Amino acid sequence: MTATLPMSGLAVLEAGACEAPARDAGLAQQPHWGGHPDLERIKTLLRELPPMVTATELNQLREALVRVQGAGAMLVQAGDCAESLYECTEAGTAAKLDVLSQLADHAESRLGLPVVRVGRIAGQFAKPRSRPVETHKGRELPVFRGHMINSETPTTEARRHDPYRMLWAYRAGLKVSDRLRGSRDGAPARSVAAGPWTSHEMLVIDYETSLLRMDFESGMIFLGSAHFPWVGERTRDPRGAHVRLLATVHNPLACKLGPNARLSDVIELCEQLDPDRTPGRLTLIARMGARHVTEALPPLAAGVRRSGHPVIWLCDPMHANTIQAAAGVKTRRMTDMIQEARSFLAVMDRLNLHPGGLHLEVAASAVTECIGSRIADDSSMLSQYTTLCDPRLNPDQAIELIDAWA
Ligand code: PEP
Ligand code: CO
Repeated sequence: MTATLPMSGLAVLEAGACEAPARDAGLAQQPHWGGHPDLERIKTLLRELPPMVTATELNQLREALVRVQGAGAMLVQAGDCAESLYECTEAGTAAKLDVLSQLADHAESRLGLPVVRVGRIAGQFAKPRSRPVETHKGRELPVFRGHMINSETPTTEARRHDPYRMLWAYRAGLKVSDRLRGSRDGAPARSVAAGPWTSHEMLVIDYETSLLRMDFESGMIFLGSAHFPWVGERTRDPRGAHVRLLATVHNPLACKLGPNARLSDVIELCEQLDPDRTPGRLTLIARMGARHVTEALPPLAAGVRRSGHPVIWLCDPMHANTIQAAAGVKTRRMTDMIQEARSFLAVMDRLNLHPGGLHLEVAASAVTECIGSRIADDSSMLSQYTTLCDPRLNPDQAIELIDAWA
């Protein structure tokens, strides 16, 4: 049994989301709805809709993560950088689930450990961006921020932030979440706890606070939009709105950490998000870059261990290895990603910590967005370059990365 949250202390966060300007350090990367007259109505509607996840499911996932933390399992988290709302069809979802399950099965057979499956799916519709505008054919346009906020079409009108997109994202997310539930229920050979579970970057405060729910039986508050939300590198300020919101929910959580993360901030984050030092509660996703991981990760990993927080460490070998391709688009080299993954493993080994798994951006089709495994850094890269945001691995490249890890 779940209920919509009454207006409570969390209303403070919500009020902040509408009123504070996005440049406020405490509330980074928010849409500018431009005083849209229907914003409040849209949020009221969202508050009345059913959650996409249940308290029971969160407990099942928690159980699986406890196993990962205790070195008895590993985790594969994979999917699009930015999901397209147009791909949330039955066929689109089936294709994504198929790839996630191939990768996880492959990892399972190579590593001899059960693999927990987590999709960047059913809600990965909002993107943090380094710059608010971009230049297109000599004209300045607001950047694309994910289908929950605006359209990728390069016109001023299409790039306007539209709060009705939150309803569209909700409907798509609900449909895809239900499809994943069917897939968990229909997996007789594996335990239900192996997933697949949903995850996305918890970014748009208006959307996420409208989907907070309370479980009547336990009294706990949870985020109804995903099983396993994470906070991104750009919004992980320990005193910012994103971390404060996640601190209040029962869902297992993750946090990205880049090469400039300071140990004191990471410890403060751990205190905020995992005050009781609960196994399975918090996952830290290192995205340090092939050239930085060897120096940047050990002090953080050692410091977190000293602090007694029983975190899971995942490796995201993609986000700090983005470069410009000859064809003028963003890309990533397989060699860099493999090097970062191997260096991550070496650090974990040296510190006697369990490498919890991989966080990857993978497409469900044979895209040509990353260099390596027969994809060259030339104009042929544009033949299947369809990502809405960052360059993704194709399924073969993802298997190669898992092989390198194994
Ligand atoms: C992402 O995962 O797509 C992303 C933006 O990551 P990060 O916060 O690590 O840059
Ligand atoms: Co990305």
